[in-house]
Amino acid sequence: MITLLCVGSLLTTLIWYVFNDNNVEPHKPPPQKKSAPQPSDPCNGCGEIINKVLERYSQPWKKREDNYQKFRSQLGSKCHGLDKAIVTQGNTPVGAKLVYDGEKKRSLQVTPEIFSTFTKERPFSNKTWDTCAVVGNGGILTNSSCGPMIDAAQFVIRCNLPPLANGYETHVGVKTDLVTANPSILVEKYGALMGRRRPLVESLRSYGDSLLLLPAFSYGHNTPVSLRAAYSIEDFGSPARPIFFNPEYLQSLAVFWGSRGLRAVRLSTGIIMASLALEVCTNVHLYGFWPFGHHPHGLHALTNHYYDDRQTKKKFHAMPAEFDLLLRLHSQGVLRLHLGDCRPADG
Ligand SMILES: *[C@@H]1O[C@H](CO)[C@@H](O)[C@H](O)[C@H]1NC(C)=O
Ligand SMILES: *[C@@H]1O[C@H](CO)[C@@H](O)[C@H](O)[C@H]1NC(C)=O
Repeated sequence: MITLLCVGSLLTTLIWYVFNDNNVEPHKPPPQKKSAPQPSDPCNGCGEIINKVLERYSQPWKKREDNYQKFRSQLGSKCHGLDKAIVTQGNTPVGAKLVYDGEKKRSLQVTPEIFSTFTKERPFSNKTWDTCAVVGNGGILTNSSCGPMIDAAQFVIRCNLPPLANGYETHVGVKTDLVTANPSILVEKYGALMGRRRPLVESLRSYGDSLLLLPAFSYGHNTPVSLRAAYSIEDFGSPARPIFFNPEYLQSLAVFWGSRGLRAVRLSTGIIMASLALEVCTNVHLYGFWPFGHHPHGLHALTNHYYDDRQTKKKFHAMPAEFDLLLRLHSQGVLRLHLGDCRPADG
């Protein structure tokens, strides 16, 4: 009997941990709910946190031109994304030293061979797009019907080579003007491009002639695989246009958000692209940004990405700080976060 009780309580503890690990909620559940979780709160207290977010979110959204201009000019004066976000032949000559932003003791001197892989034109300067959609890959996009709204944007930014076919298009759209690729996906899915390269080139077809943005100079080990991706694209005549993040820009962006209270080891691709969009677009819309394991409406469980449930190594002990900063910008009318499903009237 005692053994049974112990096993029972061990199980309860385990279940509690499993829930806590997958879910957001850092607070202790209210005592009366401890023994009997209520159906309205299926995620061990996350409903309370999500409701707080929704309270901030559900004020009618209106663009505040003054706030947008102010934020944009602060970002521009600290980070200079228009000119500096991307390494180009214009801003990084042969002989220049690139300091890896993730590994600051390491640097690379630009050789003529590396220089030849840099884009000649500046992809962003002198161009501002009217409407940009930045698509995060959160499970909140599953069955969201947001595809048409995303595709209606003038410039669509996607993160980490996400799948767009097989039914996802209705919910995430297909238009892509810029897509990022983390070298880790090149390593895991394409054998670091040490063997056959055609599979990568074929998978890039769904993004047409979009820019393919690689953090080639964030860590030393990113450089060779990123260069191999650029060479593969060139050798196979793929219409994709590889470009590289400027590590100096990423570093300045980390300082910028740090000064606003973000204590993160690395910025996520999502907040990096949202920041860049704020410099290059007049109206910034974010989709698929939602750091919680449960849907804001209905609280049903969500997968980690809209296309798989691979977990990132995150522990949600507080409301994720990046999301909080983006929600603040939403409330200030600087950008617009889209949470939940898209209906025609949601535009
Ligand atoms: C781009 O802007 C810069 C400075 O704002 C200007 O000097 C340059 O002529 C512009 N280039 C084009 C192609 O419009
Ligand atoms: C999404 O919709 C499809 C088709 O209606 C359904 O089969 C599937 O269960 C839904 N997925 C989720 C996570 O709600």
